Amino acid sequence: MSEIDYGSYLRLPELLALQTPQSEPEHPDELLFIVVHQASELWFKVLRHEMDTLITSLQAFDTMRALLAIQRVNTLTEIIAQQLSALDTLPPQRFMQFRGYLGSSSGSQSAQFRAIEATAGLRDPHFLQAISEHGDPPPEVQAALERPALQTLVLELLAHDKVELETLYTGPGPTPQFLLVEGLLEFEQRFARWRFLHVQLVERIIGPATGGSGGTLGAKYLSRTVSQRFFPELWAVRTKIYGR
Ligand code: HEM
Repeated sequence: MSEIDYGSYLRLPELLALQTPQSEPEHPDELLFIVVHQASELWFKVLRHEMDTLITSLQAFDTMRALLAIQRVNTLTEIIAQQLSALDTLPPQRFMQFRGYLGSSSGSQSAQFRAIEATAGLRDPHFLQAISEHGDPPPEVQAALERPALQTLVLELLAHDKVELETLYTGPGPTPQFLLVEGLLEFEQRFARWRFLHVQLVERIIGPATGGSGGTLGAKYLSRTVSQRFFPELWAVRTKIYGR
């Protein structure tokens, strides 16, 4: 067996051959544009993997393992959001010079992004319409839709441990279940941060009123998604406490 080294283990020749700018002559900023998207898709892959671990731990009612998993999920979500800032360095007039070469490609066609949203628990009509716009949802999205949403799994874990959601906030001392529920809320917040940073990026580059290559109203459409919620009950518990 041939010895594995850094380049062969990481399949670097193949990986580094996957960036193929379409502009002619090649626009100097297109490489950055491609790499931020490709890197995001790679991180989406790890995020989905770690969300699977989270789901398995929740289904096994293993709070400590679920806590470890949600911490990693949250760190990855933060990294994915921060990466967008690399494209804040792309001035509008320069993006315009190669935007035409992207054809109809749009981030809204990212099957992994939709799978993450579906795994988290998005089921509202706007989301269901977005995933079936180009026919049946991709298989990974369909599979995620068929699983119980994260919020359902966490509430089942609490029921298994005979703990009320509200009691986590009103009872004595922080418990592992409290940290888990708050970890999930943290995920929601960080994901919304990605959405917000992305809208800002879009506004900064193509402006607030330019339509997207995927056929939406662009920033106007995206800003509506910032308030989408994966875990409505975790938000509602706050209202309950304050409404007392
Ligand atoms: C020059 C930078 C970028 C611009 C101008 C831009 C623009 C847009 C626009 C206008 C949309 C709305 C859909 C459409 O009509 O096309 C969109 C959606 C989306 N973009 Fe970007 N984008 C940029 C960078 C990125 C990056 C780096 C990612 C990382 C993967 C990304 C991922 C997505 C995703 C996942 C959606 C769907 C969001 C949703 O429907 O909630 N975008 N983008």
